[in-house]
Amino acid sequence: MRKPFMAGNWKMHMDNSQARELASGLAGRIGQVEAVDIVLCPPFTALTTVAQAIEGTKIALGAQDIFWEDMGAYTGEISPSMLLSCGCSYVIVGHSERRGRFSAWPEEWPDELRAVFGDNDTTVTWKAAAALEAGLTPIICVGETIEEREKGLTDAIVRDQVLAALQRIRQGDIPKVIFAYEPVWAIGTGQVCEAGEANRVIGMIRQVLAEKVGDAAQNMRILYGGSIKPGNVEELMQQPEIDGGLVGGASLKVDDFSQIVETAARVKGA
Ligand code: PGA
Repeated sequence: MRKPFMAGNWKMHMDNSQARELASGLAGRIGQVEAVDIVLCPPFTALTTVAQAIEGTKIALGAQDIFWEDMGAYTGEISPSMLLSCGCSYVIVGHSERRGRFSAWPEEWPDELRAVFGDNDTTVTWKAAAALEAGLTPIICVGETIEEREKGLTDAIVRDQVLAALQRIRQGDIPKVIFAYEPVWAIGTGQVCEAGEANRVIGMIRQVLAEKVGDAAQNMRILYGGSIKPGNVEELMQQPEIDGGLVGGASLKVDDFSQIVETAARVKGA
């Protein structure tokens, strides 16, 4: 049995006072939910604030990115041990926005900015491996753009991204990884992937993982992400391959994210 999992990716939202309010609200409403693993991923600057607000609850803390070295002259970067010291147990790795694969490219940004955050298949596997070495669970994001989907490349792109992400991960650590299938065109657009199609792609990811770890792939959690809302989460959670979600916009409101978690608990909980 795979325990349902719901993570909120706050992206670049919430200063410290807003973060305290949101996390405290969630702690009060869903802090004692047992049936779903709940993770909040605020910006780095709010990690400590959120850690305090969720203390004593069952909600866990995650970061949105990580660097692979543990210390040194890497201005602006955040190391695995720094994340641990803030109370993190999870970290998102290779989100499409960090790979420069936005659902809509900001018009005023010149093309030279396309690699702005620098993530690619190589940095993703370095980051994921470093997270695991430190005892953090990476949530690795994969997914195709609309152009790739229209060319029929979805499965090939997703498969390549999964295999590339695993490259530096020790065989024995692979079963600890959480993957999130996040079609780029569904992120922040309100255009959710049809539940059956998300289920199919996630099933394909599980097959790729089975090629690496055999039956252990059956116990690995694979999430869907992209425009999850209280109104569409039930259908998504009814799919047998979808073990949970990575939620962006709807994780910024206590009521929306709580409803999403409660629905996952009802549909998938024991
Ligand atoms: P969204 O973002 O829910 O706002 O579409 C999801 C994500 O990017 O993780």
